[in-house]
Amino acid sequence: MRIFFAVFLLFSFMNAEDFITKMEYAKMLYSNPRGIGCNRCHGSKGDGEIIARYRHKGKKRVLRAPAINSISFSVFEKALKRPHRVMPTYFLTDKEIKILYFYVTSEANN
Ligand code: HEC
Repeated sequence: MRIFFAVFLLFSFMNAEDFITKMEYAKMLYSNPRGIGCNRCHGSKGDGEIIARYRHKGKKRVLRAPAINSISFSVFEKALKRPHRVMPTYFLTDKEIKILYFYVTSEANN
């Protein structure tokens, strides 16, 4: 019985979401989504950033990540479920996609 209780306690501690706020969890996931952090390309607030400037065939080019804090949830969700040219493919759950959307569209992330 005691072991059962210890295991139960352990599992309840592992559910980190209960011990930190939704916002803290969202921020953590945004910068560490089991892969390269969204912040690295889309900026800490999701308003888009220049990833690189380079020359191609003598022309100046800019590679940028678009703003993701002013798009609809359906565009956001679809984008995270299909492969892209530059952006890596993530394996996020529906819940994680919702919380990432909550994070980038939240006024409080400023
Ligand atoms: C290596 C840089 C990079 C990382 C890391 C990255 N993205 Fe992107 N993202 C891009 C680029 C560039 C595009 C434009 C499509 C393309 O060329 O890949 C894009 C497109 C998107 C779009 C579609 C926007 C639209 O208007 O259609 C969404 C939504 C998005 N990213 C969300 C995220 C989220 C959330 C994360 C973290 C889980 C993330 N991205 C991580 C570079 C990145």
